[in-house]
Formats: sequence, C-alpha cells, structure tokens
Amino acid sequence: MRHVVIVALFVLTMTFLVYTGLNALNPLPTQAATQAVVVDRMFHLEFIAIAFLFSLITVPLVYSLIVFRRRPGDTGVGRHIEGNIKLELLWTIIPLITVIAFSYMGAQALGDTLRVDPQALQVKVTGFQWAWRFEYPDYGITSNALYLPVNRQVLLRLESPDVIHSFWVPEFRVKQDVVPGRETQLRITPTTIGEYTVRCAELCGVSHAYMRSPVVVVSQEDFDAWVAEKQEESTEATGPDAGRGQKLYETLGCKACHSVDGSEGVGPTWKGLFGSEVELDDGSVVVADEAFLAESIREPGAAIVAGFAEGTMPSYALEESQIADLIAFIESLK
Ligand code: CUA
Repeated sequence: MRHVVIVALFVLTMTFLVYTGLNALNPLPTQAATQAVVVDRMFHLEFIAIAFLFSLITVPLVYSLIVFRRRPGDTGVGRHIEGNIKLELLWTIIPLITVIAFSYMGAQALGDTLRVDPQALQVKVTGFQWAWRFEYPDYGITSNALYLPVNRQVLLRLESPDVIHSFWVPEFRVKQDVVPGRETQLRITPTTIGEYTVRCAELCGVSHAYMRSPVVVVSQEDFDAWVAEKQEESTEATGPDAGRGQKLYETLGCKACHSVDGSEGVGPTWKGLFGSEVELDDGSVVVADEAFLAESIREPGAAIVAGFAEGTMPSYALEESQIADLIAFIESLK
C-alpha cells in the first residue's frame, strides 16, 4: 500500500510538471476569435489527459526499475500473478467514461463554433489553384485580401472551381474544406485586431504551399473606410496598370512558377517575354504579343512553349482587367 501512495503522489507531481512544461512550449498560436476559445479549452483538457497518461506509464515503470530491482545475491523467481478482475474492470470503465465525457464536451464545443449570428457579414470565398478571392456581396467588391471588422461574426461561403482546398487561419482555429460542386460554410468572430494569413490546408497541386492570402482584422471604422476605398477603385475606369499587375503576380501565386529575373522555373520566365519570339512544342514560332499572352493566361493549354509540360498551369478564372494588368506588368519586364 505504501508503494501505491508514493507512486500516486509521484504521478500527480509529474502530471503537473508535464502539463506546465507543455504550456511553456506555447503550443497554440494567438487566440484571435471567439471560436478559438472553445477549441483551446478542449486542447487544454487534452493536454492534461496527455500529461496524466504519460506520467501514469513512466512513473510506475521507473519506480519499479529502481525500487524492485534485483539485489546482489537474489536468485529467486518473481511471484506469479494470475490476472486481476478488479484492475481490469477499473481500466476498462475509467477510460470508457473519459472518452464519453470528451466526446460530449467535443460535441458541445463544435456546437459553440457553429453558433449562428443572423447579423453576420457575408463573404463569398473562392479557393482555386492557387489563390483565394473574397467577394463582399453586400458591398459589391472583390479583394485578394480578407478584411474583417473586429467583434462581428462573418459567414464565409466557400466555393472551389477546381479541386478540394481547405480554408485555415490558425489564429481562428476553425478550418473548413472547400469542395468543388457545393458550398461549404465557416463562421468566425474575430476578436483581435491584427494581420493573419489564410493558408490552404489540403494538398491541391504544385503551388499548394503558396496558396496564402492576408487576413486583416480591423476596427469597424477602418473596415468602412476600406470598403469605401475599394468601391471607389472598382468604379474608377482605369486602363491596364503594371503596378497592379505586379501585385497580382505576387498574390495570385504566378511567382511560384514564373520568375522575373530570367531564371528557369516551372513555367517560362517573364523577363524579356513581351514581344519576344517563342517556340512552341509543335515546332512553330509565335510572337508573345498581347493577344498571345492573354490567351495563355485564359487558356493555359492552348499553346505550350517548347520544353515545358502541358497541364501544369491551371486556368485562373481572372477578370479581363486583371489579365490586362498582368500583361502590362509583363510588358514592363522587357
Ligand atoms: Cu489549395 Cu492546397
């Protein structure tokens, strides 16, 4: 009995130390949404369970190795023990209750993250190979960055035109697959002003790792100002702009495959491309003029440059003005 008490005390102490150590590693990113609070509560319960189980296994093991070790001169055989019904019942029933309790709390936490606010701001999110696009139907604007007002629930309606992606901002904790052919939804209530990054959490092709976009949580006033600025931008009828093209080059993920310094990439470099003569894989030679570049962006499979593989570049479903901006940028790289 004495051994049991000593081991129990050691297990409790070890559990406390392991849990404190786990927390000191700071395993969870900043908490920036109400949905993150419930998820983290579950995480901490898991951490406690992990710390306890780890201690429950290692402490009796090490204790036995030291206290019950073979002494010099001891040549006897250990006592034969034929099972223990009480112990087996105990280690069946306790884990069973624990698992049921965790599933109940998990279901509650899931319910909390799905709680609906009828006043939620709606944003239509398109995840495509390999970028994100955000449309605000209430304001008639489209953006490459997700701007959100703080402390207001946002309902993200997610769609994909190509393959499965997954919308994930670690600071918000919740994650949702973006599935072609159906709309999925995710609700987030940001609580902390700041800049975050949405990343794609589902392997979706060569540039999966570059499928990142900024997520900016701002005050309601800053959000209104941003909306007004965006609305003005979209009404201003401006011609193609190389600066905007360069931004698109960076945010859409073009830079993952096309260099601007002449170096080899997955796709042809953009340096000196505009107006140059390009040999295609069927042996013909064309001039990379505006029409050719526009076609190549719209329909990447229409003409393949010699030495590059077909089917590598997806169709990005860009607006005509975006294509014009990109071509203006390519032209500036002569
Ligand atoms: Cu989209 Cu990975």
